[in-house]
Amino acid sequence: MSLLTGGMAVLLAMFMFSACSSNDSKTGNNDAANQVYIPPGKHDQFYSFMSGGWSGNVSVYGIPSGRHLYTIPVFSQTPMNGYGYASETKALLNTSSGFVPWGDTHHIQPSKTDGMYDGRWIFVNDRNTPRIARINLKTFRTDETLEIPNTGGQHASPFCSSNTEYLSAASEYSIPLPKPMGNGVDVPISSYKKNFHGMISMVKVNQHNGHMKVDFQIEVPPFDYDLGRFGLGESKNWVFYTDYNSEEAHSLLEVNASQKDKDLVLAINWKKAAAIAHQGKGTVVSTDYDHNIVNPRTRWAKTTVEHKVRVLQPSDIKGAMYFLPGPKSPHGINVSPSGKYISIGGKLSSTVTVYSYNDIQNAIKNHDVTKTVDGIPVLSFKNVEAKQVKKAGLGPLHIEYDGKGYGYNTAFISSEIVKWSLKTGKVVDRHASYYSPGHLTIPGGDTRKPYGKYLIALNKITKDRYLPTGPEMFAGEQLFDISGDRMKLLLDFPVEGEPHNVAELPASLIDTGQVKYFDLSKNHNPYVTRKEKDAKVVRKGNRVDVYMTAIRSHFVPDNIEGIKVGDEVHFHITNLEQEWDIPHGFALKGMQNAGLLIIPGDTRSIVWKPKKIGVYPFYCTDFCSALHQEMQGYVRVSPRNSDVKIKYGTNKDL
Ligand code: CUA
Repeated sequence: MSLLTGGMAVLLAMFMFSACSSNDSKTGNNDAANQVYIPPGKHDQFYSFMSGGWSGNVSVYGIPSGRHLYTIPVFSQTPMNGYGYASETKALLNTSSGFVPWGDTHHIQPSKTDGMYDGRWIFVNDRNTPRIARINLKTFRTDETLEIPNTGGQHASPFCSSNTEYLSAASEYSIPLPKPMGNGVDVPISSYKKNFHGMISMVKVNQHNGHMKVDFQIEVPPFDYDLGRFGLGESKNWVFYTDYNSEEAHSLLEVNASQKDKDLVLAINWKKAAAIAHQGKGTVVSTDYDHNIVNPRTRWAKTTVEHKVRVLQPSDIKGAMYFLPGPKSPHGINVSPSGKYISIGGKLSSTVTVYSYNDIQNAIKNHDVTKTVDGIPVLSFKNVEAKQVKKAGLGPLHIEYDGKGYGYNTAFISSEIVKWSLKTGKVVDRHASYYSPGHLTIPGGDTRKPYGKYLIALNKITKDRYLPTGPEMFAGEQLFDISGDRMKLLLDFPVEGEPHNVAELPASLIDTGQVKYFDLSKNHNPYVTRKEKDAKVVRKGNRVDVYMTAIRSHFVPDNIEGIKVGDEVHFHITNLEQEWDIPHGFALKGMQNAGLLIIPGDTRSIVWKPKKIGVYPFYCTDFCSALHQEMQGYVRVSPRNSDVKIKYGTNKDL
């Protein structure tokens, strides 16, 4: 008996030991590396699309590895591949202010179907020059940019409704509106309260091709609209915005826009507002704004200048727009997966305020209005506020949900992530984040069913986190495991630009439908050269068009003569390869702009104005084959009055 007991004790001890150690290897703190390790040749579980802030572009990372997969050029000229320099792409950067080759990307919004990501498009805004771009997730290329008129800088943009019916964009910096709407643009800044306006823009998305259109706008008081979010589920017909500066200050905002104890949250029934707009309410005003679309046949972007937009006043949409009193200078606003709760980061109040959608609807039904602001009814705070999360850290900014009943907020000043129960409002966990996190995301955190495994914090300050790189350094992202009760820090990685906002999509939504190269027979670029024998150089006055082909490992033609100083030389290079991942590059000595990267089956064009006589070498910049070095050629540039005729060829003396 005692022997048996002794034997069992040993077995039990062995079992416990092995159970403990295997448990440690799965979830122990020392094992973070295993959770983010993606073996060579294996792929990540999520694509992570990060707006680059002042990089003007969107960077793509793999999660959980943190691998930088790609950078999608959007609002900034990108010499790496000639985006914004290549003639096909230049129109994407046109605005009513002219060619604007830089942007400040802020909010990433994946397209949705039934409140879930559908993997079709990513929308992103430019805060400085109010624009929205649409990225095609089959090519990872920007296919469209739309300027937002009557708007002085948009931060709260481009939030996407449950079925991508609309994107909603709000102004941050209010401006006086151009004639004939306002009192003119040339007004004293001190007339802010009288002459300045905020603007909500509703951008309709064509479900067939993704094309965007400013459907209508709503003029609102000159507050600084900060963040927005469409409802989900039962609240899906509404869109909500935080704002600060309800004081309507125009100078020293850090003091003057922080006077009131409560600011306002704007709630709009967009469906109702759209129906009213479509009945013809409001005023159609004249205002010029650019709309740039890539033609899918030619893959050439073209600008259309739009001249009109419908603008509604609050009085036009009675019953469709309300203010909710909010915490002091609120920042983030997020709707819970069920659509029942709307949470606001208090920024200057160390609390998160949670509103109940049902209570808002009841307050509207009961006309529970305390006052009106510029004709917009303000609902009673005590009747719409569901709960307050206390101890949400110092400077609570953004909120995200895991779909399991918990909310998470970043606290910028106290540098932490705070986890709380949506049911009780009680804080259940907090974890330091290094340093000063702004946005955070949980994959699918703004959908009806978040994936809820990871949390990413976007940190504005990195200081000592990485090897120092002089006075300027990259900001960073931090990846947390949130599958257990306590958050665990897994990974810390530097990123390009300002990691402003990020969205993660399951790889399976995107990776199978990728375009790997373009079908040469369907290339309808007006300057395509489909066969080497069709390559040519054509002069028309001072303009010379070079129709060139590239294939491993030569250009046709690779010797060109008869170019003269003062010419405008348009190179149009077609990559004849029909195979994945064999781009060719094109760089020419003395070219004033950038090199090109030409994808198989595609044509890209660039303009060169030779300034001096000489013989100029060109070459392929993309290491395409063992004979990549040999992929080169020459252009001879003669004096303006020379009689050298246009001659060209490959493997022949001209
Ligand atoms: Cu083509 Cu290197």
